[in-house]
Amino acid sequence: MAEEKILVIEDDDLIGESLSERLRREGYEVVIAGDGASGRREMAGQEFDLLLLDHRLPDTTGLELLGEFATEHPDMPVIMMTAYSTVEGAVAAMKKGAFLYLDKPFNMDEMLLAVRNALETTRLRREVRLLRRGQIERFGFDRILGQDPRMMEILALVQKIVAHGASTILIEGESGTGKDLLAKTIHYSGPRADSPFMNITCSALPSELLESELFGHERGAFTDARTQKKGLFEVARGGTVLLDEIGDMPMPLQAKLLRFLEERAFKRVGGTVDIRVDVHVVAATNRNLEEMVRAGTFRNDLYYRLKVIPIRMPALRERKGDIPLLVQHFVDAFNREFKRRYRGAGAVALKILQDYPWPGNIRELKNVIERAFILGNGDEIRPEDLPAEIREQGNGSPAPRSLYVLPPEGIDMEAVETDLVRQALERTHGNQTQAARLLRMTRDQIKYRVKKLNGHEWGKSRATATIPAATES
Ligand SMILES: Nc1ncnc2c1ncn2[C@@H]1O[C@H](COP(=O)(O)OP(=O)(O)O)[C@@H](O)[C@H]1O
Ligand SMILES: [Mg+2]
Repeated sequence: MAEEKILVIEDDDLIGESLSERLRREGYEVVIAGDGASGRREMAGQEFDLLLLDHRLPDTTGLELLGEFATEHPDMPVIMMTAYSTVEGAVAAMKKGAFLYLDKPFNMDEMLLAVRNALETTRLRREVRLLRRGQIERFGFDRILGQDPRMMEILALVQKIVAHGASTILIEGESGTGKDLLAKTIHYSGPRADSPFMNITCSALPSELLESELFGHERGAFTDARTQKKGLFEVARGGTVLLDEIGDMPMPLQAKLLRFLEERAFKRVGGTVDIRVDVHVVAATNRNLEEMVRAGTFRNDLYYRLKVIPIRMPALRERKGDIPLLVQHFVDAFNREFKRRYRGAGAVALKILQDYPWPGNIRELKNVIERAFILGNGDEIRPEDLPAEIREQGNGSPAPRSLYVLPPEGIDMEAVETDLVRQALERTHGNQTQAARLLRMTRDQIKYRVKKLNGHEWGKSRATATIPAATES
């Protein structure tokens, strides 16, 4: 690692020299400036990792310089040094963003410790900034692909949400439809991007653990609680918490979450004081919360509180038109990752990909493309690079599809048959030959059924349940 650079602005030569000599021995690069003007010059010319700043200078004050540098170099910590220590001076310096305020004469070991801590802070700040910048780039709206009208609608809505800074969002959708991606995009595109994004899967932990993960706990709250611990809501202060698979959150915790959403306050487990934090809550689920409310396994009030802004991510099979776009996107991404040069999916392979119903949605599509990269020849994706079950769907030998939906309570098959025969006869004005054709039956078959039908009264023979046609799937 490059040496860390420290600027010392100090008009007392003796202090300046002894300080810089010691710091150099510790392996730091040190520049000394004797007044405000040369301090400014040094600052303008190069990047420093730390500033040691005297309070009284011949041409200006340390406080003055502190204010100037704070806006231009927000990552650089400043340690103020003064021989005329006052409480007011210290408070003013801290308010202006000084890292520390040290009285002169200072103990050299104390100073070195402060320097080490301050530099560590700079390193962390820079690292966080770099990571966040990377995240912001990774989770821009342009990274959510889709030209399907439903997706466009969702993106337009979410952009509005981001602009208005709404506080609670519910994202529903099957696994792999992009719920996580959307939640991160909302966070990293909005005003909260500089604060943390935290993510927890509610189904992954037993109830007590989940509670202490979310709300934290006090020391001694339970057997293993040897120290106090902050929960996710506290750690994410100012940022966003994604509660994934919220449908699996146990009922008692749902009550606590509701209170937090309404009052923005909670207690740590075993705690007595209310802690207030401002966090944006995004809940995601692949279950049907409305049905769970009806079944009594999800709180009604929490559901309505979450559902203020509901977003339903469409399944991939509902937006097959986006498949070529997504395929090309993943091909480009894996080309970069595996240093390959695929053009894309060949026409036949693409057709197969478009015909497959994708129960695992975009995640499954991504995995299939990755697999094709591993198996393929690096030119284009061929049908033989696709898994057998996907190929079979696309090869004109489709897996059996449901024509009708069997009602949950079952159905009287004979009544269904009778009803259809009756409808066929009605439609053909009693012409049995034509009715038989409609039902793909022989004349004998229909004659037999008409006989049976005549044994019934017309009205009673109506099927009790009509069979709705299966929805597109
Ligand atoms: N619209 C999209 N455009 C590009 N990639 C997407 C899109 N939606 C999802 N993905 C990708 O698909 C995968 C699954 O998405 P994810 O957000 O984890 O789904 P979910 O949380 O709904 O299970 C991730 O790799 C994600 O980046
Ligand atoms: Mg997810």
